[in-house]
Amino acid sequence: STYQVAYFVGSLSSTSINRTLSKALIRLAPDDLEFTEIPIGDLPLYSPDFDEDYPPEARALKDALAGADAVLFITPEYNRSIPGALKNAIDWASRPWGQNSFDHMPAAVIGASIGQIGTAVAQQSLRGVLTFCNARQMTAPEAYIWFKPEVYTEDGEVTDEDTKSFLRGFMEEFRAHVERVLTVLPRD
Ligand code: FNR
Repeated sequence: STYQVAYFVGSLSSTSINRTLSKALIRLAPDDLEFTEIPIGDLPLYSPDFDEDYPPEARALKDALAGADAVLFITPEYNRSIPGALKNAIDWASRPWGQNSFDHMPAAVIGASIGQIGTAVAQQSLRGVLTFCNARQMTAPEAYIWFKPEVYTEDGEVTDEDTKSFLRGFMEEFRAHVERVLTVLPRD
């Protein structure tokens, strides 16, 4: 069977290295994973005032997650934490109260930084948020990517064999994780 994976890129930058990483991951993923990006750049800032009547961008986000089997986060680290735009998207998805889109959903986290820390601190923060949102996170392998521009083409081809096999392995493990979680907790 095919698994539908919704993914978030946590950067709004037109030259995002995390977007490049997302392209690489999609290229290297097992064939039975199908990917749909959930855009976060046009979401208003979340307020409970919207709970009665979500705007179209937020409704689209809720629908996309409802239609997905799993969710993947590919994010930069901003000031040792989650970029605001991504946190805002997660807040939208987690509400209205009682309609948390991440409940029991298989999830994984990965990110690239221009420094050696490789988004490790942001990922810890994101994991805390996803824990509260009751997502079923893949806890290993971890992937803290120190982004080397020469290793990726613009459309996400990976030219270095070690990087390629690491990223391929990450996506194979993610697929196995999704299957394991959905075996115990099928989504409808
Ligand atoms: C950064 N950057 C950064 N890097 C890091 O490793 N730890 C950090 O805490 C931060 N903080 C941070 C804050 C802000 C506001 C910016 C704009 C950048 C650098 C970051 O790794 C670099 O800009 C990446 O290129 C961001 O990823 P995208 O947007 O290219 O995907």
